[in-house]
Amino acid sequence: MEIVILGAGIIGLATAWRAAAGGAAVTLVDPAPMSGATSVAAGMLTPVSELTYGEEPLLRLGLASRDRYGAFVAELEERTGLDVAHRTDGILEVAFDSGDLNHLDDLRRFQESLGIPTEALTGRECRRHEPMLAPGVRGGLLAPEDGSIDPRRLAPALLAAAEGLGARLVRRRAAGVLVERDRAAGVRLDDGTEIRADRVLLAAGSWSGDLEGLSAGVVPPVRPVKGQVIRLRTAVPFLRRSTRALVRGSSVYLVPRADGEIVVGATQEELGFDTRVTAGGVWELLRDAHELLPGITELEFAEVSAGLRPGSPDNAPVMGPSALPGLFLGTGHFRNGILLAPVSADILAAMLLDGPVPAEAAPFTPDRFSPEVH
Ligand code: GLY
Repeated sequence: MEIVILGAGIIGLATAWRAAAGGAAVTLVDPAPMSGATSVAAGMLTPVSELTYGEEPLLRLGLASRDRYGAFVAELEERTGLDVAHRTDGILEVAFDSGDLNHLDDLRRFQESLGIPTEALTGRECRRHEPMLAPGVRGGLLAPEDGSIDPRRLAPALLAAAEGLGARLVRRRAAGVLVERDRAAGVRLDDGTEIRADRVLLAAGSWSGDLEGLSAGVVPPVRPVKGQVIRLRTAVPFLRRSTRALVRGSSVYLVPRADGEIVVGATQEELGFDTRVTAGGVWELLRDAHELLPGITELEFAEVSAGLRPGSPDNAPVMGPSALPGLFLGTGHFRNGILLAPVSADILAAMLLDGPVPAEAAPFTPDRFSPEVH
């Protein structure tokens, strides 16, 4: 089985590894591998803390993925010898004022109704977990099974693992899909070269709608949702574990790493393909982070970046065969690409190799956007 994967972001890379492990000859095509949303993402693994009402199937998918991260990372680190900074010490969710606490209480009740374990904390208990928190913090909860990973370590490890199994990376832009006898037969690169394949996986994130040769409706619209993210550095212990907060209704999160990096995210802006970092974006993040952790102003400012989350029409991933035989979609992971990489890779590799597809995949197939389904 020859497979071409368009996009060497987290979903394309993880699927390349899994498909190569399943015996496929894999070619990844990307002009700038690992440089999109994957390189900006903080890497929180938080199906519980990021839970949104009405998204129970996505929650189940997220839980399934989070729970297979341990084995996924163990295998990856063993194969490559690379450390991907996986942490499983939970996520602290904090409410800054009483309005924020009302929202958090609603979230905790919703989590309880779904049988998800979380621990409610008073403000004082939050500060016992994180002594640098502002004295006024009203309360919080601990999601003990959530965690984080460093996407900037995970992506190269996945590429090394895939290449170790024979996958090759072509650093060019795919201009279009080759269509022969009404099925995808490969891709045409921007220099005119053709790469023929039995199956093509489109995993190009926000750029998944960019290909020539596809009829309308084959790829559901995927829109870019900009996120600006700051990276700080500290030489002294500052934050023990990943912390999300509502600060006067505004959401902020901080993800610390063992090497002293603290990632602060993220704005959510619908501005098309705009990756400028703005004074307003940086101000918003630092304002909320400073309210929550006043000592943050002492830390070194290392980097600010902006990425584009790929949002599908219902903000859930789109995974499976498209209306064009031979063309598969693995896109639309929106805010959850890093979290969902292990389960998405297993689902997509199974689909590409005609294996048994995990049951969690059913709500996320592309045919949910086809008019005849409704
Ligand atoms: N999952 C975090 C974000 O999209 O900002």
